[in-house]
Amino acid sequence: MKILEHKVALVTGAGSGIGLAVALAYAKEGAKVMISDINESAGQEAVNQIEAAGGTAAFFKADSALPEDNEALVQATVAQFGRLDIACNNAGIGGEAALSGDYSLDGWKKVIDINFNGVFYGCKYQLLAMEKNGGGAIVNMASIHGMVAAPMSPAYTSSKHAVVGLTRNIGAEYGAKNIRCNAVGPGYIDTPLLAKLSPDHIQALISKHPMGRLGKAEEVAELVVFLSSEKSSFMTGGYYLIDGGYTAV
Ligand SMILES: NC(=O)c1ccc[n+]([C@@H]2O[C@H](COP(=O)([O-])OP(=O)(O)OC[C@H]3O[C@@H](n4cnc5c(N)ncnc54)[C@H](O)[C@@H]3O)[C@@H](O)[C@H]2O)c1
Repeated sequence: MKILEHKVALVTGAGSGIGLAVALAYAKEGAKVMISDINESAGQEAVNQIEAAGGTAAFFKADSALPEDNEALVQATVAQFGRLDIACNNAGIGGEAALSGDYSLDGWKKVIDINFNGVFYGCKYQLLAMEKNGGGAIVNMASIHGMVAAPMSPAYTSSKHAVVGLTRNIGAEYGAKNIRCNAVGPGYIDTPLLAKLSPDHIQALISKHPMGRLGKAEEVAELVVFLSSEKSSFMTGGYYLIDGGYTAV
């Protein structure tokens, strides 16, 4: 039995990396999936991949930083598939690299708008749709930097800590309404997000993980599927690390 059979899910930033892996895993477990991204061709390619594997998916272009796009994404999902049961708010960027004192105001705003405000806007409209079903599950993509610093990336660290806080609040507010909300904290994962880093930088990052490697997007997707399914029925307001031991030392 597929664990997300008859469920309708949406994933933001689903054209690449972790979001793509989550969308593919949701579809493999039987969910109908609304793929969302600002990158239309990548999003459409994700739909093609799901359909080629026998799953059901559609694409809706949305910029996570815009409240109206988040509202339209939820409306489009309900119009296409009839309801919304599961949402993974995954879209995010690394942002510029600078000390906090040198960080540009525009760079700060951009990261906070996509990585944090975007997650709030997503949750806000998803919660309203899920209340109509009498339940649902939200998984927000944080990071190990929802817990520990990323020197030279103060906006990223702040945005991910804020995602963890918002997730706890929603968990507390909506537990009695049967809507669960959890956050995931991956260590460094081998995705296009890391493509701009030099080989030396990647090696330095690998050395911070006791398991001696980067994580895989598919490994994060396994945790997201679990938190989205009835298998995690008593889990809400939580923040779950999947980091190869990064935060253990
Ligand atoms: N890769 C890592 O090491 C790592 C570790 C921890 C957490 N994360 C988090 O996981 C999430 C996904 O990261 P990834 O590594 O898969 O990155 P990625 O760059 O491979 O994919 C991100 C996707 O988000 C989309 N996107 C960017 N801005 C958007 C916007 N404003 N609106 C809608 N879509 C947008 C991009 O087009 C892309 O398809 C991010 O929130 C990131 O912070 C990544």
